[in-house]
Amino acid sequence: MLEIASVKKSFGNVVVLDGVDLTIKPGEVVSILGSSGSGKSTLIRCINGLEKLNGGRISVDGFDVSKPKELGEARKRSGTVFQLFNLYPHMTVLGNITIAPIEVLKRSRAEAEKEARELLASVGLSERADAYPGQLSGGQRQRVGICRALAMKPSYLLLDEVTSALDPEMTAEVLAILEKLAATGTTMVFVTHEVEFARRISDRIVFLEKGKLLVDLPTEEFFHAEGGMAQPRVAQFLSKMRKD
Ligand SMILES: Nc1ncnc2c1ncn2[C@@H]1O[C@H](COP(=O)(O)OP(=O)(O)OP(=O)(O)O)[C@@H](O)[C@H]1O
Ligand SMILES: [Mg+2]
Repeated sequence: MLEIASVKKSFGNVVVLDGVDLTIKPGEVVSILGSSGSGKSTLIRCINGLEKLNGGRISVDGFDVSKPKELGEARKRSGTVFQLFNLYPHMTVLGNITIAPIEVLKRSRAEAEKEARELLASVGLSERADAYPGQLSGGQRQRVGICRALAMKPSYLLLDEVTSALDPEMTAEVLAILEKLAATGTTMVFVTHEVEFARRISDRIVFLEKGKLLVDLPTEEFFHAEGGMAQPRVAQFLSKMRKD
């Protein structure tokens, strides 16, 4: 389980996460919605141990991200893909995907490369194993980013607006892969502005507003007039998204 309990995070005087509670069970697909600045990326970075908590606790399959001795194990279990393509530019696609399995999981190069090629095939990029990130389109880079996260066999795949820098065609390429992963039981925490897509693939939707989880509901209830839509902020957010 991924357990987030009473999490607080501030930057200086600015409170960004103000007591967030959220539990993700294996097999669930949970989307995090919320306006810009509501704290979504900060929450993902806290789960990944990239930000130090000011209060509360996050544990990934029992490993506490705030304990230096447990952070490594926690991180291995939460594979993360960010909005901006953060592939290593000086390494090939294959190098990017295999480096962590080889260095962190101590897998043999041959084994890591075999798995990397299988992952690349599953996202339609078999031919690009030897390319450098700079030679790929944005959509291809994000697909490699997803392979790189999956190569660590994480328990949870965290995705922070992985399509927001892509044009509609590339977005569709990446969303198709995420849909396939969701359908095959990959546990995902999905930060997105793609409301309709979130509705299609999520078991649950949570809405973050000014650092607080305003709503945490099964997907259909979230969109229901007496469910999430009963919250003025959610209704307002959704109507704005539909206009955009
Ligand atoms: N390192 C930092 N130092 C200071 N303030 C920060 C830092 N990181 C984030 N913030 C602030 O925290 C707030 C939440 O930021 P965050 O990136 O988590 O929002 P978000 O919900 O992901 O927004 P978006 O939808 O635009 O990506 C913002 O006000 C932001 O300016
Ligand atoms: Mg963000």
